[in-house]
Amino acid sequence: MSALFPQARLRRLRRTPQMRAMLRETRLAPEQLIYPIFVEEGIDEPKPIEGMPGQFRVPEKLLAREVERLARLGLTGIMPFGISHHKDAIGSDAMKADGLVARMVGTIKDAVPSMLVIPDICFCEYTSHGHCGVIEHGEVCNDATIENLGRQAVIAAGAGADVIAPSAAMDGQVAAIRRALDGAGFGQVPIMAYSTKLASSLYGPFREAAGTELKDDRKQYQMDPMNRREALRESLLDEAEGADMLMVKPALAYLDLLSDIRRESLLPLAAYQVSGEYAMIRFAAAAGVIDESAVIRETLGSIRRAGADLIMTYFAPQLLEEGL
Ligand code: PBG
Ligand code: ZN
Repeated sequence: MSALFPQARLRRLRRTPQMRAMLRETRLAPEQLIYPIFVEEGIDEPKPIEGMPGQFRVPEKLLAREVERLARLGLTGIMPFGISHHKDAIGSDAMKADGLVARMVGTIKDAVPSMLVIPDICFCEYTSHGHCGVIEHGEVCNDATIENLGRQAVIAAGAGADVIAPSAAMDGQVAAIRRALDGAGFGQVPIMAYSTKLASSLYGPFREAAGTELKDDRKQYQMDPMNRREALRESLLDEAEGADMLMVKPALAYLDLLSDIRRESLLPLAAYQVSGEYAMIRFAAAAGVIDESAVIRETLGSIRRAGADLIMTYFAPQLLEEGL
């Protein structure tokens, strides 16, 4: 026998579906999926989102029914985004006890009390300029914004939010929110920080979906996608500020960052498969060039493999319907 003859035959372990299933290293469970949902006030019919085929803006008045449907599919976690008809310079609606953020959370918890409600805490859907905070001297003012994020978090927690997920990408926002929650008697409510959030072009379809008014970009507060050390630094800072969970967003183009954070932190780690990632898969599948169901599983599997415990994905209901 030649010295080159293979001794290690990896194909031995790949021969049958049962063998492959037994040895699969990475799995996806229904409880690890969180569904981001768009809820619009003041409309009567669901509105299709053109850039995200298969996704709709749900009328606020139909939200309870939609959440009941999702719960029947086996969904356990939901992330509501509001589409506001009451925008102003600072996004004050999001800080009101009877504003859209509070009403969405309350409606979901009333409809399905066991559903984990994880509201995205930010101002861009509530400001007339579409930025994620308060504008002063032509810039988003960090320190005024984090005070307001604390107020919004308290309003959301008061309405029954299970987890607070701040996405505004301001410095010190986790610490400010923790302080505000603790001060208002919500010491038991955890924070899932959008800790490594890139200034990504993959948010394109979301901006249509959420009806944000933004004319320029968010590069003064969201991170440069080209920076790997800074990405780790962002997440570790949020951990030091008291975050209970960390997140990388977007997901597929940033698996290296997920892997870095997984190695350096012991916190639960989430990843957000964003609107542009969803759109790329949907449109390619609609063109008949990829097998949609297989690509969804492959991409989400790779996000898990890189280190994510939880995944925010618009494919959640479809996955639950098809079975994981
Ligand atoms: C709000 C927010 C955005 C997304 C989630 N929360 C938009 C942005 O930061 O510009 C994007 C989600 C997606 O693209 O699916 N700050
Ligand atoms: Zn925002």
